[in-house]
Amino acid sequence: MSSDVTGRERALRITGGAQLAGGICVSGSKNAALPEMAAALLTKETVVLSNVPKVTDTSLMAQILAGLGGRAEGAGTINLHMGDARGSDVSDELGRRMRATIVLLGALLGRFGHARVPRPGGDDIGARRIEQHLRGLRQMGAHITETQTEIVGEAERLHGERIVFDLPTVTGTENILLASVLAEGRTDIFNAAREPHVQDLCRLLAKMGARIEGIGTERLVVEGVRELGGAQHTVIADYLEAGTYAIAAAAVGGELRIECSRPEDLDVVLLKLEQAGARVEVGEGSFRVGRQARVPLKPIDMSTWTFPGFPTDLQAQYMALMTQADGESVISEYVHENRFQHVRELAKMGAGITVQGRIHAIVHGPCRLRGTDVSIPDIRSGAALVIAAMCAEGDSLLRNSWHVDRGYEDMAGKLASAGARIESVWVDSEATAPGHSYE
Ligand code: EPU
Repeated sequence: MSSDVTGRERALRITGGAQLAGGICVSGSKNAALPEMAAALLTKETVVLSNVPKVTDTSLMAQILAGLGGRAEGAGTINLHMGDARGSDVSDELGRRMRATIVLLGALLGRFGHARVPRPGGDDIGARRIEQHLRGLRQMGAHITETQTEIVGEAERLHGERIVFDLPTVTGTENILLASVLAEGRTDIFNAAREPHVQDLCRLLAKMGARIEGIGTERLVVEGVRELGGAQHTVIADYLEAGTYAIAAAAVGGELRIECSRPEDLDVVLLKLEQAGARVEVGEGSFRVGRQARVPLKPIDMSTWTFPGFPTDLQAQYMALMTQADGESVISEYVHENRFQHVRELAKMGAGITVQGRIHAIVHGPCRLRGTDVSIPDIRSGAALVIAAMCAEGDSLLRNSWHVDRGYEDMAGKLASAGARIESVWVDSEATAPGHSYE
């Protein structure tokens, strides 16, 4: 929520200038946990997920599943009993609050042969199109109707097909996976997304009895089975959270150990940090990022790409880093169409950034950032503004911090434990609070 009934809202108060030291333990991945919770719909047995991040989006998904008649018990470790679920109609009120609701389409069609999901609202980081999801499901035999407000699917039993994505879509791949594991025959997915969270969903489905080949590659072959069973699964570590803290350490300086993580999912990000002048040491399940504050950062251009390229979900944070570099860098966003909202807020802090069209932004470093009041426009922009505020002189207040809580478990607590001067506070809401927007 952006504000409560008393007209107060949560915000992050940050005093810049502190270096990072010590260790931060990374939580489980939000973008893995959400489709994995949806996967529990595909069995009458219990699915136990551990390492589920305690963030708003996962509790929202738990509420949605409960609304369908199932039970989602616990936090951190969640026991999902969807055996009694009867509903296939996702609540408008809950479903519209996050875009990941769309993966329920494939899961509900697979389980019940019927699904109705609200069309997610807002238009924050681009069109967020879903025509590839719908095309794939239609090929598999679903009859799908769309209106401005909802998507309704019907199918007797889905059948396997050869599905070609014209560009790898993360939730599109997940939707087809969830639909295909119980479908009749073989589904071949070409140009599948390979993100660590997509791979982790495949691993959970395999534990439930699904037959999937090619996990981690751009071609996934699913041989449908009659039924799936329960499973226990530990959600993969969040490489986006790990990457966020790694970029923060490179930006403010110090030496940070990023624990409970998978540095192997961050090869390109760690390469960029090293090129920019940070020291990176990779271990087993953890890594260190350090920089002495007097060592200047180099400007290094970066383009986002699908995995294993540089993740779009770390682009804003990297831009905050580049404001501290000694020269000009070009940042190109090739995944989403409208992902430079952080630029306006970074500019309020004194960042010199020129946006050229929808793809390129030029950062004119080094920028002397000053603490100020800013408004967080979306989750990853929020992480970027936190990094910028930690680099700035003086105090910043980051309003609308609920965005950050959607995907980062206790960011303020974790960064404070590593030496940052950051706290989560209640403040009076602004008269013109911006509307909600969702990732
Ligand atoms: N696209 C199409 N047609 C489609 C599907 C996608 O044109 O049918 C386009 C999109 O418009 C976008 C690009 O393809 O320009 C990539 O979209 P994708 O479908 O891969 O994104 P998504 O599945 O909607 C997930 C993450 C996002 C992350 C993207 C890219 C979840 C719940 N969300 O979104 O995460 O940015 O993949 O990696 O997994 C976040 O966590 O902050 C976040 C936004």
